[in-house]
Amino acid sequence: MRFTATLLACSALFAQLGHAHDVRDQQVRQKRHHDASAAAKIEKRYPPGRETFIPTTTPAYALSTSSATPAATKTSSTSSGSQTTPPPGQYTTGTTRAHVAATTTTPTTCAPPYIATSMITGTGTLPKPTTFVTKVYRSNQLTLNGSPFTIVGPNIFWLCQGQDYGPLGSYTDKSMVREALAIAVAMGANTIRALSCGISTGTYNNLNPYNLEPTFNNFDSAAWDIRDYVLYAAREYGLRVILTLTDNYAYYHGGKYDFLNWRKASLANNGADFYTNRAVMSAYNTYITNFITHVNSYTGVAYYNDPTIVAWETGNELGGYINAEVWPPYSWTKFIVQTIRKYDTKHLIIDGTNGFWNYTTGATSAGLTLSGVDIVTDHGYPRNTGIINKEFSLAKPALKNFLIGEFDWTTTYSSTDLATYLNLIESWKPLVGDLAWNVQGHDPTCCRFISHNDGYSIYYPNANSAADQANILLLAQHWYRMTNRAPPAALVGVACPQPVF
Ligand SMILES: *[C@@H]1O[C@H](CO)[C@@H](O)[C@H](O)[C@H]1NC(C)=O
Repeated sequence: MRFTATLLACSALFAQLGHAHDVRDQQVRQKRHHDASAAAKIEKRYPPGRETFIPTTTPAYALSTSSATPAATKTSSTSSGSQTTPPPGQYTTGTTRAHVAATTTTPTTCAPPYIATSMITGTGTLPKPTTFVTKVYRSNQLTLNGSPFTIVGPNIFWLCQGQDYGPLGSYTDKSMVREALAIAVAMGANTIRALSCGISTGTYNNLNPYNLEPTFNNFDSAAWDIRDYVLYAAREYGLRVILTLTDNYAYYHGGKYDFLNWRKASLANNGADFYTNRAVMSAYNTYITNFITHVNSYTGVAYYNDPTIVAWETGNELGGYINAEVWPPYSWTKFIVQTIRKYDTKHLIIDGTNGFWNYTTGATSAGLTLSGVDIVTDHGYPRNTGIINKEFSLAKPALKNFLIGEFDWTTTYSSTDLATYLNLIESWKPLVGDLAWNVQGHDPTCCRFISHNDGYSIYYPNANSAADQANILLLAQHWYRMTNRAPPAALVGVACPQPVF
């Protein structure tokens, strides 16, 4: 039964692609490809620690890190610091993870500067967000001031709290924030996705004392400042921000397992109770409500009323790799949409279900039919034109905008070349947006790059391999075209440091 369903789904896909011959063989090859990449993807923010891993994108001029120093103890007026150790299930789902803060060595030689004819030297290049990006339902288009708007840009996961510089989870140095935003501008972005800004719960087994809600219903007032600053600075640079509200995995910045642990719910079946346990849902409701009603200390604007935020995302990679875990049910996503809509009628909502078409069973996600969802999403590891072709054909008639929220931009891991993938996305303009994973910048002295060994780091502009740097140019040119601007012939430079404000 399952085999038949698989064959039918794949037949349909390959028939559509004009490769109906030898369906079985392609199906097997495609599946293998996916299985290998799925494992890599789930660990992608951590050193994979596998024999097969080749950190081809770690630059020569990166800060070297060691994993010997525990996170610094932080005292705060609002966090008690007496969190009991969570059940072990939370931390044993993957291979070994870095449970300790990175320490940094003193740089001896700085990375060479990159001087280009076009340089981003300050914030003034793009119009500042003053009005909201909205969605026109009958055309399925996102619009800004009456013109089509397509979300493009990089992920910058560490923008509020990092894991590769300073104590684990500590607030990102504001000079690093500014450089990262300038890099996004240089690359042609209009949006960034910053997981650690929206997701900040728990204590990561007492190793990260910096999160916004370290213990249940206890918000640390010191943790707002970096979020307020990132939104303020993004506005100054003319960028919009996607804020994801929880994570499917137990990362240093927190995720769904914190809510399960706080309410002493079962962690079985990859934390499936997150979607059905009323106390757990209520705890997530509390987090979201506190988050979206917070008033920014730099701008005076409540988050629910800030056009710098382009969308809330119900979670990161919920359901795991294309339904490898339980997909969020209709009832749960509806509840989260209602939670957001109680205060916020203006922002777009992204269903954080990871992929919405299961290529094995042909099943589609609940978010695809839920009316409160504006945008559905998938993450491209590896780049696969067959999957996004099929997903576009599902999203379009369902009147869902489609965002590829993360994807592999490298020369290393995907057999589909980047230009082919980006050209396909461009052919769907303005209905499909894309966000690459992930930008890394310099340390606060602008000397070395902060290394992150998941193999997908953009050490902008000049510290990846020559081949990867060529792909970064393709990516930037694609984003300029997606935003109706002439693409640069060479990578636009970024002054470091960026001006302080
Ligand atoms: C599809 O659904 C099946 C059954 O729920 C699941 O085992 C599988 O991991 C899902 N995803 C893919 C890509 O096959």
